[in-house]
Amino acid sequence: MARSSGAAGFWCLLFLLPLLGNGLVMVEGFTGTYGINYGRIADNIPGPEEVVLLLKKSKIKNVKIYDADHSVLKGFAGSGLELVVGLSNDYVKEINTSSDRALQWVKDNVQSWLPDTHITGIAVGNEVLGGADHELEEALFGAIKNVYKALVQLQLTDIVQISSPHSQAVFANSYPPSSCVFKDSILQYMKPILDFFSKIESPFSINVYPFLAYQSDPEHIDINYALFQPNPGVHDPKTNLNYDNMFDAEIDAAYAALEAAGYIGMEVEVTETGWASSGDEDETAATSQNARTYNYNLRKRLFKRKGTPRRPKTVIKAYIFALFNEDSKPGPGSERHYGLFKADGSISYDIGFSGLSTSHASSLLRSLKRSNSKICRREFGKDGKLGFVPLWDWYTEE
Ligand SMILES: *[C@@H]1O[C@H](CO)[C@@H](O)[C@H](O)[C@H]1NC(C)=O
Repeated sequence: MARSSGAAGFWCLLFLLPLLGNGLVMVEGFTGTYGINYGRIADNIPGPEEVVLLLKKSKIKNVKIYDADHSVLKGFAGSGLELVVGLSNDYVKEINTSSDRALQWVKDNVQSWLPDTHITGIAVGNEVLGGADHELEEALFGAIKNVYKALVQLQLTDIVQISSPHSQAVFANSYPPSSCVFKDSILQYMKPILDFFSKIESPFSINVYPFLAYQSDPEHIDINYALFQPNPGVHDPKTNLNYDNMFDAEIDAAYAALEAAGYIGMEVEVTETGWASSGDEDETAATSQNARTYNYNLRKRLFKRKGTPRRPKTVIKAYIFALFNEDSKPGPGSERHYGLFKADGSISYDIGFSGLSTSHASSLLRSLKRSNSKICRREFGKDGKLGFVPLWDWYTEE
């Protein structure tokens, strides 16, 4: 470089600059700090069009779903909402074995909906590592690679980010936060994924549930620590950092595990967090009051756009779990009561949102739906004739 003549160096730079420019474009799957999971394992929740109204009313822009359901992709078109779709565990094995299938999947479920539907990310698999299916664990990395290869082929890597959400089952120990490491049994699957994510600058995605941690050990955990309420806090003797809430501590535990495994620069993103408002008899912490406290304080915490004690400059982003109570979810009673909203669109408890069912827009939408079956509004056009105007233009206020 130093040997090259001035002129050659100049031209060289000119040619390099646009390339450098492109290389520096970082794809961001999550542009705000407060997103939400739109889980749909229910037979009584509002459809995508009403959900768009609810989300806009609640000023929530970042949304994550667990599949790539076409009614949702269609319903979100033109809404301005930013959507992360899921390649569900059911597909991970076949996507691992076939890059053609991966390409087809990305074409059908991502590319063909762009740009009207702002798909900003693909979550490949959900809580695969540390689960019971070892073949699925083995297949995850191959699936991630094939989906990424498809994005490269379709020139979508600057628009769509890949992630793969993990549960706490990937960690051997998370107390105190600085001592957290990945389980040995997980590392063989985790390492190649983290190597790859480091290269493509994808974050480490983790699901964080102080509710579950507290519920598993209520004798030793102060519920105020889990709920972001005033409490003595937890001191980490190794780092000398103080934690006044478990949410931050769990995120820093993930940072510690990443560092111990050699991934110092990787960002941690929360793909799920929430608190159940009701549950089985032994799920005593699943109350409406606790769920309200957690979600109210969490919302305040995320809106501060702050980092954690270990990473004060890295703003924490989280997708809340979940938008609605999902009546068809299996498992303990709590699983069906994570929603900020009930199935009818009304709020589960007050954390500052107003819900759908009482709103003017919603009742108007319902009556429109009844009368037209298409999501349109009847309006007199410039020609004086009565016509249909797509609802999208009508309520998009930006
Ligand atoms: C994943 O794909 C690779 C390459 O096709 C194959 O060798 C491997 O057996 C697959 N693993 C699973 C668990 O399907």
